[in-house]
Amino acid sequence: ETMPETSTKRVLLAAPRGYCAGVDRAVIAVEKALELHGAPVYVRKEIVHNKYVVETLADRGAIFVDETDQVPEGARVVFSAHGVSPAVRAAAERRSLQTIDATCPLVTKVHKEAIRFARDERTILLIGHTGHEEVEGTAGEAPEHTIVVNSPDDVDTLEVPDPENVVWLSQTTLSVDETMETVRRLRDRFPALQDPPSDDICYATQNRQVAVKKLSPECDLVIVVGSANSSNSVRLVEVALQSGARASYRVDRASEIDEAWFDGVTTVGVTSGASVPEILVRDVLDALAARGYETVEEVRTATEDLMFSLPREIRADLKAKE
Ligand code: F3S
Repeated sequence: ETMPETSTKRVLLAAPRGYCAGVDRAVIAVEKALELHGAPVYVRKEIVHNKYVVETLADRGAIFVDETDQVPEGARVVFSAHGVSPAVRAAAERRSLQTIDATCPLVTKVHKEAIRFARDERTILLIGHTGHEEVEGTAGEAPEHTIVVNSPDDVDTLEVPDPENVVWLSQTTLSVDETMETVRRLRDRFPALQDPPSDDICYATQNRQVAVKKLSPECDLVIVVGSANSSNSVRLVEVALQSGARASYRVDRASEIDEAWFDGVTTVGVTSGASVPEILVRDVLDALAARGYETVEEVRTATEDLMFSLPREIRADLKAKE
């Protein structure tokens, strides 16, 4: 008897994948706020960039708004994991809002660097995507001192007041390789360019890219679970393609998987962005198993055990309840 053709089909499952410590903390912050204070709890912007998470929290009584002026005076509002500019904090204060700050501590770290460099009158070249909430927040710490650099090609047309006094910072969720390329080109143009004191691209972004890099050369197809506005998820698709995957697609959920992707595909890589709950990955694995990709091998390149304590406002409220 010959083995059925399907027996060679397999899945390589990236690890680490999914939730990072900052997302975990931000989602729990909203859940705890709902538990402690009851619905509604307002959240400025998407708490994390994942559709499923936002919809689930909305079902439980979170109200997502774009700006604090949509929150009733004196109400409770959570700031998202991506951070906020001082202008947003000031606007919230003017409306006497009770704020819960779920900004990822690793984003706060970049804000602090920006504040310090601006105080020293340096020009900050902030590598990141214009319009992304994290970039708006970080640039908002020192708008007069910050220039956003979107891509390596942006470097050629950059004008700075004093080329001897420039430092770079970055968004936490970029492609490591592309950022290094941007930095190389910045240094070509501004040899005095200073580096940040430590990596701004966070451990979770880096680890997920390393894992997908490792499995991609063996994959005919890499499926990345994550939402379209999730920077780190979109980067994972790019990294998969650059690292040798024949094809790579992003899906919000299993139902978006397209039959046409599987022509001649033996090995499927699977990973997920830092804002993606594992249940969505399980659904994708089930959908793949139904197509004959039943063997799942984990490709692990790191173990993560970082955890952040909850926002201090939540900790205080929990303590008061004891
Ligand atoms: Fe923070 Fe990085 Fe996650 S900056 S929210 S740990 S992707």
